[in-house]
Amino acid sequence: MTTIDTRTMGRTGLALTTLGFGAASLGNLYKPVDDAAAHGAVAAALAAGIRYFDTAPHYGRGLSERRLGDALRGAGDVVVSTKVGRLMVPDDSVTDDRERDGFRSAMPFRAVYDYTHDGILRSHEASLHRLGLAKVDILFVHDIGGLTHGDAAAHYWAQLTDGGGFRALERLRHEGVIRGFGLGVNEVEVCLDAMRVAELDVILLAGRYSLLDQQALDAFFPACIAARTAVVIGGPYNSGILATGVRSGRPLHYDYAAPSAEVVERTARIEAIADTHGIPLPAAALAFVLAHPAVASVIPGMGSAARVEATAALAAHPIPAGFWSDLRASGLVRAEAPLPGELA
Ligand SMILES: NC(=O)c1ccc[n+]([C@@H]2O[C@H](COP(=O)([O-])OP(=O)(O)OC[C@H]3O[C@@H](n4cnc5c(N)ncnc54)[C@H](OP(=O)(O)O)[C@@H]3O)[C@@H](O)[C@H]2O)c1
Repeated sequence: MTTIDTRTMGRTGLALTTLGFGAASLGNLYKPVDDAAAHGAVAAALAAGIRYFDTAPHYGRGLSERRLGDALRGAGDVVVSTKVGRLMVPDDSVTDDRERDGFRSAMPFRAVYDYTHDGILRSHEASLHRLGLAKVDILFVHDIGGLTHGDAAAHYWAQLTDGGGFRALERLRHEGVIRGFGLGVNEVEVCLDAMRVAELDVILLAGRYSLLDQQALDAFFPACIAARTAVVIGGPYNSGILATGVRSGRPLHYDYAAPSAEVVERTARIEAIADTHGIPLPAAALAFVLAHPAVASVIPGMGSAARVEATAALAAHPIPAGFWSDLRASGLVRAEAPLPGELA
């Protein structure tokens, strides 16, 4: 059987495969995936040696969790993370799979934010039922922070802190129900706030550390290393452009929207250096984030067996040292970003 390297998360002792499976696609993110394809993608991931899977109630309003659990049941030793912060409330006005919040799911629910003590416990229980699994290993507080909540951010932050949300997570961890918890977000600032008030085992940071965005180098990674908080990198292609490059003719996506001309230009320059060394751009995108010593795993989106197989090959693709030195010399990545081969 194929194996993939693992890295142990400091506080928990839990080992994640360096390549994990981001299951937003199984909730029909932007496009429908049928049940067989979803099951096939997870089966292909297991066959490729992937043992870490991330999902959320939000991903298709329960659809991703249902599919992931069905495909993983009986798979043995795997690590599963899901998220808390949105309760799925029955909504019989949902009768078709037109896009809602980015997902083409007909699951008849709507999300209600709840980061309180009871909300977190109810969310965890509901996830176990949807997954049909006896446990999840990691709970991420999903999308807390100003990016999602705007003016209501302080209200939800108060639920998580004064309202006992973190206390519920600490209790689940203390009782051994989960192995660890943290945040699952697309922004850095709220992670720093959270690390000041709770002992986080792991943070899923999406899009804020990549070949195109290295803001996590400033305060985020140093804080994680000081607190022994592991990092899982989501959205390593910034939602697409670092996988497709700019010349494929496919629509370009950067952070779930059309990219600016500046992002297109920078991507083209990175792609040109990759071309010079004969390596695929997405292979560099995956290797780049794993070079940071705080990072335990990278979880690109993969919605089909073929995509999983291609991604496993990309993650194993040899990348010559000359590519990294040319990249650094180009100034396209920050000088202090650790590069592969430099990992202590
Ligand atoms: N707040 C949070 O906690 C949060 C936020 C964002 C993401 N995440 C996690 O991160 C995971 C991945 O994020 P993501 O899917 O949003 O972004 P991503 O991994 O950066 O990009 C996925 C996109 O790249 C395309 N792609 C992947 N491999 C490709 C290849 N080899 N060639 C061409 N295109 C390729 C996919 O297209 P196809 O659909 O055609 O495969 C998909 O549109 C999620 O599933 C989730 O687990 C968490």
